[in-house]
Parts: sequence; C-alpha cells; structure tokens
Amino acid sequence: MIVLVVGENREYLCRLGEEIGSDLGILSVPEDAEIGDVIETHLGNKFTVMEPRVTDLFRHLERTGTPILPRDVGLIIGMAGIGQGDRVLDAGTGTGILSICLGRIGANVTTYEKNLKFVEVAQDNIIKAKVEDNVEIRGRDIIEDLDILNNFSVVTLDMKNAEVVVDHARYLLKTGGSLVVYSPFIESAKRVVECARNAGLSDIKTIDTIQREIEFGERGSRPQTRGVGHSGYLTFARKYT
Ligand SMILES: C[S@@+](CC[C@H](N)C(=O)[O-])C[C@H]1O[C@@H](n2cnc3c(N)ncnc32)[C@H](O)[C@@H]1O
Repeated sequence: MIVLVVGENREYLCRLGEEIGSDLGILSVPEDAEIGDVIETHLGNKFTVMEPRVTDLFRHLERTGTPILPRDVGLIIGMAGIGQGDRVLDAGTGTGILSICLGRIGANVTTYEKNLKFVEVAQDNIIKAKVEDNVEIRGRDIIEDLDILNNFSVVTLDMKNAEVVVDHARYLLKTGGSLVVYSPFIESAKRVVECARNAGLSDIKTIDTIQREIEFGERGSRPQTRGVGHSGYLTFARKYT
C-alpha cells in the first residue's frame, strides 16, 4: 500500500515497509502502519501516516511531460461535465496526472503516449494512484489510431499538433460529447479553434486560466506578486450533429 508520511516541513510518498533516510533520521514505515499512526525516525522526529489524495500525488509522482495543474484539471472536469462512467479519450499521457484525476472520479480513460519511456513511468504512476481499473494506457501515436477510435463522451488533448486530432473530433465523439484541448500558447489555441470550426463542432470557447493566491498581511491583503499566474489556454467544443 502507498502512503504519505508527513512531518514538519517534510513529506514522502512511500510503500508500507519502506525505509526513508533523511537529515531528520531514518524512518522505517512499518508493514502494518495504519492511516493516522504517528511514527518516529531513529532521531525522534515525528511523521504522520496519511492516505495520499490526488493533489499529493501531483507533487510526488515521477514526472515526464509537464502535468496539467490541479486547477486546470478542475476546470476541465467542471466545464466538460466529466463524471462517472464517461468514456474519455486522452492524449498525450505524459506524467499521467489528467488521466489519473479522471480515473479517480470514475471515468473510463483510454490514454495515448507515443514515448515508450514515458509510458513506463505513467503506468507506474497509474498503479500508485490505484486507478489501473479505470485508466488504460496505449504506448502508441494517437494519430496512427484515429481511424479505429470512436464513440467517446469526452476527448482531452494536451500534445503538440493537437489540431490533427481535432480535425477528426467529429468521428471520435458521440453526439453531445465534448472536446477539451490544453494549449500552452495562444497561437496553438487559435489553430485548435479554426480546426474545431472546420470540423463542424459547436459551442467553441477558449479560456485563459489564471489563478491568484491571496496574501493576508499585517499591512493589508492582496494577490501574491510572485508564483504561477497563467498556465495555458483551454479550448472547449461540443459535437451536436
Ligand atoms: C505535456 S505532456 C501531457 C501531460 C499530461 N496531460 C499530464 O497531465 O500529465 C504531452 C505528452 O504528449 C505526448 N505526445 C505528443 N504527441 C503525441 C501523439 N501524437 N500521440 C501520443 N502522445 C503524444 C508527448 O510524448 C508528451 O509526453
């Protein structure tokens, strides 16, 4: 079982029975540790055993491609209305964060990754997140399989040249289904919108995703002046006819 052990200013994702070494001492996580147990390093530093939530996995899973940020995952789920039992086609898998989050809410995800080294890491992440029953990873270029893919409730794309897939979106989606494309630059978002129009999709909308954390200080309160503000552009579209 994978757990999160959290101490003062330090946390680790590990298996029960694992030994973690740090400047706080050696922490032996017992095989029979339970959620809520407090365990100590050999130097007496305390750690609490917790069940990892998906936001913890975001910080700790091994990364390949830049993962979708939790706030953008929330927007994708909320704006495309993704829920339990939806058939989702995703590309590229990358680190697997979006697929894992969609699997966690009960969607059945087929995700494509063309880099076989990334496939290995993503498969390991999928198992650590315990969504292997909901997320199937295919180590292939999605473009080669476009002719055999159809009847999906939602298609999510976070890959270079996503337009090529958008061109085929009508055939990939069932009627009423949603397309979601994450684009790091406005030029690629514009190409996606043009392709979605040409493909006959409806309700095409692109949003800029910005999040500002608020700092409550002694002198006054205002948005943080540092940190990530903008992450990317999200384009949504639907197939009606
Ligand atoms: C930015 S990452 C995706 C991150 C992912 N959305 C996440 O949340 O972890 C983009 C990935 O798309 C993959 N990719 C690019 N073109 C592809 C294609 N035609 N078929 C399959 N995978 C592709 C790349 O190898 C890369 O790993």
